[in-house]
Amino acid sequence: MKNFTFAIPTVVHFGEGQIKRLGAEIAARARNVLVVYGGGSVRRNGVFDAAIAQLKEQGIPWTELPGVEPNPRVATVREGIRLCREKGLDGVLALGGGSAIDCAKGVAAGFFYDGDPWDLSAKKLTPERALPIFTVLTMAATGSEMDDIAVISNPETNEKESFSGPCCYPAVSILDPTYTYTLPASQTAAGTADIMSHTFENYFSPIETNFLADSLAEAILRSCIRYGPKAIEVPNDYEARANLMWNAAWAINGFLKVGKPVAWSVHRMEHELSAFYDITHGVGLAILTPNWMRYVLSEKTRDRFARYGAAVWGLDASRPAGELAEAAIQRTRDFFSSLGLPAALSELGIGPEHFREMARKARTSGFDKTFVPLSEEDIVNIYRMSL
Ligand code: NZQ
Ligand code: ZN
Repeated sequence: MKNFTFAIPTVVHFGEGQIKRLGAEIAARARNVLVVYGGGSVRRNGVFDAAIAQLKEQGIPWTELPGVEPNPRVATVREGIRLCREKGLDGVLALGGGSAIDCAKGVAAGFFYDGDPWDLSAKKLTPERALPIFTVLTMAATGSEMDDIAVISNPETNEKESFSGPCCYPAVSILDPTYTYTLPASQTAAGTADIMSHTFENYFSPIETNFLADSLAEAILRSCIRYGPKAIEVPNDYEARANLMWNAAWAINGFLKVGKPVAWSVHRMEHELSAFYDITHGVGLAILTPNWMRYVLSEKTRDRFARYGAAVWGLDASRPAGELAEAAIQRTRDFFSSLGLPAALSELGIGPEHFREMARKARTSGFDKTFVPLSEEDIVNIYRMSL
């Protein structure tokens, strides 16, 4: 195991009714906040009212930034920074899924950045300061509620890029599983695929040295397989929603990657898809992942896939490794299909026109240290397999 430092400063209040802690937590850190949310789901399901009641109780004034897009845009981040500066706001409260939270992070870090906030993503800068970030999560997927990453889109240039830094961890996150009851089945499915993909990205590493992390990764995958379908079938199944929510936080908060070399492949390919076509992140991942698995399966990697098949899918470990690996990959595809997720880009109306450009752009963020290093040609091939 390699040396590492592990620190997550986010205070998590998990469970039904935990919103009652929000007001005091904010009051301890900010006096006047920007409330960031998306297209209106939080207005319809009561989350907005519950959060605002907390602000009122503490006498904390607020300004709203509504309308954050799924795949949040840098223009919205700019608007949030303008509001914070103009009104002297000193905290950012996100209500929603990864998009609202990432936008809030963009605003919080961009507030102290002396330039266009797009630089943070485009130049992969590590911001040193950010306003305190508070989140009330309404969708189990990205893990943004407990990580320091923000993914921002720039539709003018067809780019979707992330930045991160310790100052971007939320100070406090409220994780109330009942807030995800209103999530449409399609988003529950996409969120489940995203959680699983984060886990895969960490699990499929060139060196297996962290047995604890790998075993937790397998447990997270089993939990998604168990509870994703349940949450779709019975949207207000508390245990299903609670397990998905906690899985999401742990799939990407850093625990799964410590002590071993980890570089992500499928996310970089997917971010190009959503940059060009503005598709749902988890849908793109569900299409690409089994094809990426097939593409990188070789004599060298098959034992890893075989372990995955036995530990996660309960396949008979005495079968030959190659057979086990292929069966595990097929089970992955079948599972995503069972959630109602598309299996091909053509189902989204996406053709091969931009594959070369997307592969070139994805490749600029480095594929040399991934589980299996991929060339531009390899990436194009995986996109083609996904048509
Ligand atoms: O906009 P509203 O009206 O709120 O509706 C949202 C949106 O349409 C809806 N929704 C969310 N919670 C709901 C709900 N509808 C009803 N009831 C609820 N309880 O669901 C739709 C999707 O929401 P969004 O926040 O966009 O989804 P998600 O959480 O999947 O976030 C996606 C973004 O996060 C990025 C993705 O690339 C994408 O831009 N990611 C962020 C990461 C991070 N910060 O660590 C890592 C991820 O890999 C990912 O890249
Ligand atoms: Zn993701």
